[in-house]
Amino acid sequence: MTQKDALLEAPPVDAATPGRAGILAAVCGGGGAGKPGGRCSKARLLPLFGLLLFVGCFLTLRAMQSYAGACRPAAATAAAGGAATLGSIDEMRERIRFRGTNRRLPSCIIIGVRKCGTRALLEFMNMHPKVQAAHGEVHFFDSERYAYGLEWYRKRMPYSFPGQVTVEKSPAYFITDGVPERVRAMNNATRLIVVVRDPVDRAVSDYAQIHANRLAKGKPHATFEAYAVNDYGEVNTSYKAIRIGVYHRHLQRWLDVFPRTQMHVVDGDRLVVDPASELTRIEAFLGLEPLIHADNFYFNATKGFFCLRHDATERCLTDTKGRKHPAINPRVLQKLEDYYRPFNLKFYEQVGRDFNWR
Ligand SMILES: *[C@@H]1O[C@H](CO)[C@@H](O)[C@H](O)[C@H]1NC(C)=O
Ligand SMILES: *[C@@H]1O[C@H](CO)[C@@H](O)[C@H](O)[C@H]1NC(C)=O
Ligand SMILES: *[C@@H]1O[C@H](CO)[C@@H](O)[C@H](O)[C@H]1NC(C)=O
Repeated sequence: MTQKDALLEAPPVDAATPGRAGILAAVCGGGGAGKPGGRCSKARLLPLFGLLLFVGCFLTLRAMQSYAGACRPAAATAAAGGAATLGSIDEMRERIRFRGTNRRLPSCIIIGVRKCGTRALLEFMNMHPKVQAAHGEVHFFDSERYAYGLEWYRKRMPYSFPGQVTVEKSPAYFITDGVPERVRAMNNATRLIVVVRDPVDRAVSDYAQIHANRLAKGKPHATFEAYAVNDYGEVNTSYKAIRIGVYHRHLQRWLDVFPRTQMHVVDGDRLVVDPASELTRIEAFLGLEPLIHADNFYFNATKGFFCLRHDATERCLTDTKGRKHPAINPRVLQKLEDYYRPFNLKFYEQVGRDFNWR
């Protein structure tokens, strides 16, 4: 029995609410619809059926909406497939607003680090029913957009239910002066997540991405070695891809503003080989029920990366992730490892976790 049938079958609620027969009688001028030879013409019944159809449709829509509200907005349940499919699902999410939801300022921000798996981390976290991830990098605190104000920022956030954690990620926050103070001014309870990996690998990955972009635009680009070391074989400390990897320096600016307990550092190398264990730590950090498990991930050998399995759908990151790195002169790599070693030790101490980098 459909909603509409139920409505038609329902007995009168009280005397003031005419039942089916009552309405028909009113429309048909007392004769009754089923009565042979009654005064009920087709023309007179038309508006009645229109009204019933309308009420039926309304009730069905309400029921569908309540059902959707009981589930979570689509989130990471996006169908497997390329960026195009995901794009349109994200757009759909933007248009659909579920009852009881609102756009909220993020209570958790992935602040960096570039090329350490921030996108993957956000997608992984978004599998959790209590997490709503912002689409794209908002770059609010590190750009002129800050002048647009918090209301502008809030409108860039996804709809969420009360009690859900809204998460945004913009990797440049980690390295940009003044951002910790701005985030604190928004909400001093904001929880911060930083993903890191071996700074030498990170620098090469950073170079590889910029190199690929420049090649695609037909612009010249020197080798990694030419940027990373000078003519005397010394590390070029003004090269941005090198500077970003001096993690302890950037982290200190955050620790000057936020307590350590509000920051969580994710091992980006482990995030690739054992995503579930890193996600369990994040769930604990955010006070969320541990719901993400190893069977939510599967390894795609072609990509050399994990894909997500969630609510019977599967999806992988887009092809720009997991790009092949150029072979780097081993002497240059050695130079960089030596350069980073003391900085890495300081970072391990700050964080209270040994990442065992080279
Ligand atoms: C954080 O902000 C709240 C007001 O939102 C204030 O009451 C509290 O003292 C602040 N905490 C710290 C450590 O500044
Ligand atoms: C060092 O890096 C800077 C910034 O990327 C670059 O302009 C400069 O040419 C590099 N120096 C050397 C000696 O490669
Ligand atoms: C694995 O990755 C390749 C290359 O991106 C892709 O074409 C393929 O569909 C993926 N397979 C699965 C099962 O996700």
